[in-house]
Amino acid sequence: MSQVKPTILVTGGAGYIGSHAVLALQKTGYGIVVLDNLVYGHRELVEDVLKAELVVGDTSDRPLLDKLFSTHNIAAVMHFAAYIAVGESVAEPAKYYRNNVTGTLTLLEAMVAANVKKLVFSSTCAIYGMPQQVPMTEEHPQNPLSPYASSKWMVERILADFANAYDLHSVVFRYFNASGANPDGLLGEDHNPETHLIPLILWAALGLRESISILGTDYDTPDGTCIRDYIHVSDLADAHVLGLEYLLEGGTSEIFNLGNGSGFSVREVIETAKVVTGCEIKVVEGDRRAGDAPILVGSSDKAKTLLNWRPQYADLRKIIADAWQWHQQRHRSGDAV
Ligand SMILES: NC(=O)c1ccc[n+]([C@@H]2O[C@H](COP(=O)([O-])OP(=O)(O)OC[C@H]3O[C@@H](n4cnc5c(N)ncnc54)[C@H](O)[C@@H]3O)[C@@H](O)[C@H]2O)c1
Repeated sequence: MSQVKPTILVTGGAGYIGSHAVLALQKTGYGIVVLDNLVYGHRELVEDVLKAELVVGDTSDRPLLDKLFSTHNIAAVMHFAAYIAVGESVAEPAKYYRNNVTGTLTLLEAMVAANVKKLVFSSTCAIYGMPQQVPMTEEHPQNPLSPYASSKWMVERILADFANAYDLHSVVFRYFNASGANPDGLLGEDHNPETHLIPLILWAALGLRESISILGTDYDTPDGTCIRDYIHVSDLADAHVLGLEYLLEGGTSEIFNLGNGSGFSVREVIETAKVVTGCEIKVVEGDRRAGDAPILVGSSDKAKTLLNWRPQYADLRKIIADAWQWHQQRHRSGDAV
């Protein structure tokens, strides 16, 4: 007889990575309740595509959280809800610390009160700052260079203290560049404003923007442009299910990088996108952006060893092809972006 799996609260489940995690959880048989304030999320992805329960609300709303925990038999939380735009965080740090740190603290306090003590948390490779060596392991020194990255680093510190004080155990995933889309075309990346390279290139391919800018062509890399580690969002989602199961089986707090361990330059990504889409993509070469590291590539050996994580879609062409399928159907009718 198959065992009934418990219910997981997914904050930010109407967003890009959270919605893919909901799909992966559904495929493995978990019950799901999504909490999303819909500031950046998409109601229809949760209600129409995933057909999951959506509670529209904020992680800083303690009475709502108390009600959620008392009315649903929640075994663990996957916490994706955050503001994510690095540039905006520099201009508006209070917005990022309030949402990403204070909102998370409220969630954690409600979890402790409800005796829900397992959390999977979305962190970022941006907490490492400028790399001292690549590939970067989880032990790499941390030096966040933006309020966004600092907000994630602070939550990691809070989680270490909550493990000591309250036995609230967490799996922290430090993502490298989340990219691609569900291979079946159900879900994909729809940030507004968009700041990520692959969707911006594909918008240029679709004629939704005039060109793609390369920010810096004089880095100390083989073709002078920045190198990043692109990880397919469905591989990320699978890692979340494994991290959750590690906690449900009694695992204690751990931190894992999630990346492919190999990097591609901005020029390589653009050239691959031209091949995948068959479109001409106009490129404008510009100056460097402050704070960009020449190379960010992560080692995910720990996740592979401890969680038995096996990424399926490491090929950059596959990542771009899945994203292309999504963007074509999302913007077929010439939607504004
Ligand atoms: N996209 C990446 O490449 C990347 C890289 C590293 C880390 N991350 C982290 O992964 C997580 C998900 O990122 P994403 O790209 O899916 O972003 P996203 O903006 O698509 O999703 C975030 C979701 O959280 C919701 N949200 C934000 N604050 C909330 C709050 N206080 N209460 C309730 N809902 C709230 C938004 O409405 C949105 O639906 C974030 O925590 C982000 O920092 C993303």
